[in-house]
Amino acid sequence: MHKRAEACFACHGKNGDSRTALTPSIGGQPSFFVVAQLFLFRDNRRGKTATPMDEIAKGMSDEDLRAWGEFVSKLPPPAQPAKPADAARYARGRALVEQQRCVSCHNPDFSGREQMPRLANKREDYLLKAMRDYKSGARVGYGSASMGAELAGLGNADFADLAHFLAHLPMKKN
Ligand code: HEC
Ligand code: HEC
Repeated sequence: MHKRAEACFACHGKNGDSRTALTPSIGGQPSFFVVAQLFLFRDNRRGKTATPMDEIAKGMSDEDLRAWGEFVSKLPPPAQPAKPADAARYARGRALVEQQRCVSCHNPDFSGREQMPRLANKREDYLLKAMRDYKSGARVGYGSASMGAELAGLGNADFADLAHFLAHLPMKKN
């Protein structure tokens, strides 16, 4: 598995900690989430977002999906970005996650569980893209998951603050 994973790491970064624009870190994701997303990609059902994943997942068997889920979930979670957070944006993002009860699904430390992804320390550009894609309907969730509904009352400025907060969790003390 680890040998085959080198192909994934070419885009998703060493051990799944991405340094590639608009490409998510995958380390430490719950295995159910990974299986569900690969399943959606394989069936061209994740929506209209431009992605190489539809092709990559095409040849995978159900057994492959489970094996990738297991493997990816055991990779270390991504590291914090080197650049510190902007305190004002971080605070706005934190207020929004409290107001919207994001933690009821994504866990208080945003580590994710079951089909709900880890959000902590994912790339800021990808988190922002994901929220915009749900809101516009370009990205479709697994099963009855409806992130679009969770984000209904929010706009692009909110998404930017949320992405900044989540990418920098927890804020480093100076
Ligand atoms: C050519 C680059 C590339 C390669 C190779 C690649 N990926 Fe991806 N992957 C992407 C991009 C880009 C996305 C985000 C797509 C989007 O915006 O919807 C993605 C998304 C994902 C996601 C969804 C994660 C999330 O947080 O939404 C998973 C899981 C995933 N890839 C697993 C894999 C695995 C496992 C492999 C190796 C078998 C792999 N990828 C190989 C580019 C790549
Ligand atoms: C009712 C449960 C629930 C709540 C509340 C919720 N989410 Fe989600 N979230 C999910 C599920 C399930 C997914 C995976 C959906 C899919 O299959 O695409 C998800 C996916 C995401 C993703 C995509 C991450 C990735 O790696 O692809 C982001 C970003 C996100 N949520 C942010 C938020 C934010 C910010 C809030 C609060 C405003 C929030 N969520 C509230 C259940 C929830």
